[in-house]
Amino acid sequence: MKVGIVGGSFDPIHYGHIQMAKTALQDLACDEVWFMPTKSTPLKDRSLTADVHRLAMIQRVMAYDDRFRLCTLEMDREGKSYTIDTVKTLKQKYPAYEFIWMIGNDQLAQFDQWKDPEELTSLIQFVCVDRDGQLVPTEYPIQRIHMEAMPVSSSEIRQGNKLNYVPYTVLGYIYEHRLYVENFIAARETRHRYKHSVSVAHLCEEMALANGLDGQKAYYIGLFHDIAKNMDVQHMEQWMDAICPENKKWAVPVWHGFVGSEIVDRVFYLDDPQIKNAIYHHVLGDDHDDPYAMIVFCADKTDPLRGYDSTDLINQCKADIYQGFWTVKNENDKYLEEGK
Ligand SMILES: [Fe+2]
Ligand SMILES: [Fe+2]
Repeated sequence: MKVGIVGGSFDPIHYGHIQMAKTALQDLACDEVWFMPTKSTPLKDRSLTADVHRLAMIQRVMAYDDRFRLCTLEMDREGKSYTIDTVKTLKQKYPAYEFIWMIGNDQLAQFDQWKDPEELTSLIQFVCVDRDGQLVPTEYPIQRIHMEAMPVSSSEIRQGNKLNYVPYTVLGYIYEHRLYVENFIAARETRHRYKHSVSVAHLCEEMALANGLDGQKAYYIGLFHDIAKNMDVQHMEQWMDAICPENKKWAVPVWHGFVGSEIVDRVFYLDDPQIKNAIYHHVLGDDHDDPYAMIVFCADKTDPLRGYDSTDLINQCKADIYQGFWTVKNENDKYLEEGK
């Protein structure tokens, strides 16, 4: 039995990991690939997403190939996980198996910082997969193989970039459990608007639940409602030309609703028509039928961070969004009228 090991924090797992596993099967003739998630990474100080979530995401990928396995040896060990300890345990537990430890260029570049690198390479074969065409020099006896470029990292995904490199089932898990999602917003919005977005998200959720609606859906509408707000006008105009040139008749500050409703689908893969519709109408508050559109309009206007006492309005929306919406809308119209 020849086993390729793909180790990492898998925070989250993505197509780069999967491609590495396929390379082990196809190019190195491995019979199986074991995904080995770390408990904590000695070379990184960032705290990892809970083990239960990282495991669940890997588990969703196991169905892709019946030669994929999950190995929790490192996760089950107490304390920090060093590869040298793992390798020794593997050799002891499976004396008849041949193991190949797969690493990427980034890991090869830091290989001298691993614990006991000489001993490591004498115990087990390491193969470096070159995925960016760059040959990292190394003094260690490590085999190199080339793999088609897969320019993605887990840290990019945690910021909400390159989500097309995340298997659909894994992305579904991320949204279901709200992993990283507030980072997606923090990475794109000012601190002030980020706080507003998170606040509106929670308020939307509360209003939805109080009205017997889907709290999770409302949370995402609130979280993403201003996703296009900080976009520069030129960029926004390109989006408007592409998606709804007829709406350019509206003032520029209104556009972020139209553009945001497309971004949430095309960049973040939240392709729910109600999420899109609610974001689309949130600025004008001109959808008087869809309760989610009404909720985000009201939550946006009554966000406690706006600095006025909106408790009564919020309570009215929670009691009945169809009535509360008109109260908030009328109040808002009055406010705009007074401001003129
Ligand atoms: Fe907005
Ligand atoms: Fe807003």
